[in-house]
Amino acid sequence: MQYQQLSSFPEQFMWGASISAYQAEGAYQEDGKLPSIIDEYQHDEDVAGFEVASDFYHHYKEDILLFKELGLKAFRFSIAWTRIMGKNPGETNEKGINFYHRVIDECLENGIEPIVTMYHFDLPYHLEEQGGWLNRQTIDCFLDYVKVLFAEYGDKVNYWLTINEQNTMILHPGAIGLPKDGSLPSKKELFQINHHVLLAQAQAIALYHQLDMKGKIGPAINLTAMYQATANPEDAIAAHNWETLRGWSFLDAAVRGKYNYLFEKYLNDRDIYPKIEAGDFECLAAGKPDFIAINYYSTATIAASKNDGSDVSARAGDQQIMLGEEGVYRAAENPYVDKTPYGWVVDPTGLRLTLRKLYDRYELPILITENGYGAPDTVGEDGKIQDNDRIDYLQKHIFVIQEALTDGVDVIGYCPWSAIDVVSTHQGFNKRYGFIYVDRTDKELKTLKRIKKESFYWYQKVISQNGLS
Ligand code: BG6
Repeated sequence: MQYQQLSSFPEQFMWGASISAYQAEGAYQEDGKLPSIIDEYQHDEDVAGFEVASDFYHHYKEDILLFKELGLKAFRFSIAWTRIMGKNPGETNEKGINFYHRVIDECLENGIEPIVTMYHFDLPYHLEEQGGWLNRQTIDCFLDYVKVLFAEYGDKVNYWLTINEQNTMILHPGAIGLPKDGSLPSKKELFQINHHVLLAQAQAIALYHQLDMKGKIGPAINLTAMYQATANPEDAIAAHNWETLRGWSFLDAAVRGKYNYLFEKYLNDRDIYPKIEAGDFECLAAGKPDFIAINYYSTATIAASKNDGSDVSARAGDQQIMLGEEGVYRAAENPYVDKTPYGWVVDPTGLRLTLRKLYDRYELPILITENGYGAPDTVGEDGKIQDNDRIDYLQKHIFVIQEALTDGVDVIGYCPWSAIDVVSTHQGFNKRYGFIYVDRTDKELKTLKRIKKESFYWYQKVISQNGLS
C-alpha cells in the first residue's frame, strides 16, 4: 500500500544501537568474571577473539561519549551473568555489578536510555557443567541473577530484554561455538532446553510485574517474514511450517502463554515433546511481556520439502547455519533480493511485512533491537571508512519502518547492530557492523582505536532530524 503522506517518526522514538557483552567487552577473566560457555567452547581459531573483543570493558566511557556524539537516544547492551554472579548460591561479584552501574550511569548522564538484555548467549560455564539449560535448576539460578539485576539496576533501567534470540539458540545451537567434546544436544534435548528457557523468561517477566517496577520488559527474538517459492500450494504449506516452527512457536509461548497447535503436533509426532511439570503452563501464562523486541536481518524463501534427504542445506556456505528440515520445508533462492558480502539476503520490504505480521498477531509495541549490514570495512588512505553499502542498507530499512508506522504498526525504536564493531558470533571481527570502526583484525589486536565511519555521520543526521530527509 502506498500513501499520499508518510507518518513522521514519533517524538519519543528510540533511535539506538546495540551490542552484546561477550562480543564487545573483552576482559574475559578480569575483576572476578567467571567463564561462560563462550569462553570454554571451541571456536574457529582464525576468527574467534572474544577474549579482548572490542575492549568495551576498558573503553566504555570513550564509547558512550561517542554514542552521545552520534546522537543515540538509546543504547542496547547485555549484562554478562558471569560478571555479576558468583559460583555459589547467593554469591555476587561487586566489581562486576559496579561495572554495569558505571555503564548505565554514563548512559543516563549523557541522555541515553539504557536497554538491557539479561541473557545474550553467554551461560555461566559452571552451570553448563551441571547440564546447562537442560537442567531445570538453571531456571532458579537465572531467577537469582534476575533478582540481582532488578535490585541493582531496576530504578535506572526502563527497558529490559529477557533472552536474546531464543530461536537461534534452539534452531542453530552450533552458531555460538561447540562444546568441548564437539557434541550438540539432540532435538529432544533442545526442545526441553527451549521449555526451560521459556519458563525462565516467563518468571523473570512475572517477577518484574509483581515488583511493580517502573519500566517495561519483553523477549528479543530473531524474526523474519518468509515467502513461498512459487504459487504451488505445497510451497505455501511449507512456508507456513517455517513461519510457525521458527518464529511464532517461540513467541506464542512467550506472549500467549501456550504452545502453538502446529508446534505441539510437530513435537509429538517426532517424539520430541518436552517434559512438562504441573504448573508450567500457568507459569508461562503469568509472564506476559509489555513489548516485543525483534532482531531482523533477512527474509527466507521456502519451498515444499522433497523429503529425499536433500532438504537441509547450508546458508550461504556457512556450515554453522543449516536451513531446511527433512519432511517440513526447504530453503529456496529469491531472485528479487540482494545479498551482503556474507551472503545474507537484503530485503527491506521484508521488514515491513515482518512488522505488520507481528503486530497483527499480538498487537504489542515493537522494538527493533537488531538490524545491520556485516561487511569487511577498511580504512582508506585518507583515514576514512566509506561504508556506503551499510548506509544504503540502513536507509532502506528506516524508510520501511516509516512505512510500517504509517500502516499503523506501533514501532517504538530502532537499534541497529551494532553501535561499534564487535566480534561476530562465528565469523570474526572482520565481519563488521558498527558505526564506529575498531582498529583490530581477526588475528591482530593493533591499537583498538575508535574511528567514526561514514555511516556514523549519516546516522547522526538521521537521528538529529528524527528520520530520513
Ligand atoms: C544476531 C545476534 O543473531 O545476529 C548477534 O543476536 C549477532 O549476537 C548478529 O552478532 C549478527 O550475526 P553474526 O553471526 O554476523 O555475528
